[in-house]
Amino acid sequence: MALPRKKFVAGNWKMNMTSSEVAPYLEVFRQETEPVNNVDIAIIPPFTALAKASEILGGSQKIRLGAQNMSPEAKGAYTGEISAAMLRDLFVRYVLVGHSERRRLFGETDELVHRKVVTALNSELRPILCIGETLEERQAGQEKAILEAQLEGALKALTQEQLEEIIIAYEPVWAIGTGLTATPTQAQEAHQFIRDYLKTSAGVEIADKTRILYGGSVTADNARELLSQPDIDGALVGGASLDPRSFAEIVAAAVPAE
Ligand code: PGA
Repeated sequence: MALPRKKFVAGNWKMNMTSSEVAPYLEVFRQETEPVNNVDIAIIPPFTALAKASEILGGSQKIRLGAQNMSPEAKGAYTGEISAAMLRDLFVRYVLVGHSERRRLFGETDELVHRKVVTALNSELRPILCIGETLEERQAGQEKAILEAQLEGALKALTQEQLEEIIIAYEPVWAIGTGLTATPTQAQEAHQFIRDYLKTSAGVEIADKTRILYGGSVTADNARELLSQPDIDGALVGGASLDPRSFAEIVAAAVPAE
């Protein structure tokens, strides 16, 4: 019997929050999450707030830091880009790769997503690979084919060791920021499909270990039911992570039952 996967809850602040808003947020969030110790927690602030968060958290093991994006290049003449080394320098541990907003609004392809995954892994950053179908794709019954293509595109040619570092976030595009959540059954079905894909492509051990997060209008009200599904190992939270109390409630909903 495989060990239970430790739940992981990450808050993606997107393009919200200035550096000066970080300290008051963290003061409340740290207090509210004080009793929690068996959930992995990360906040994913915008680049300009990362340094402040890093200074306050000081390499905390309890609340870790993630970045929302990263250049696939190591360094050089790439105006406006942020490298993996710059993130590591701020004790960042995770990086979102292939978020649907990056794919849709900034034209990120599976090929670019793949390059970012490789750069992150080479720099000891753990990629949180975001995948998910649009409403049209779901209505056309294509959601599984889309998930498979995104997984294949991003994870091709990775070694077993590299695959172990990957975290996956299933985020149906139609549920992001819309208030429309996938039902727990819909989400579980997609998560199970992803785990089965990993079984076939990477083996049972990796499939059992990999954490698959759900994202898309997760709130303190729906988190518990989503997180109780067998293949949902955590949540990637956007809007509801901007309020430290709501986000702490979602973290609390991930605490395993005694
Ligand atoms: P949402 O965003 O919780 O605001 O829907 C989720 C995400 O995009 O990661």
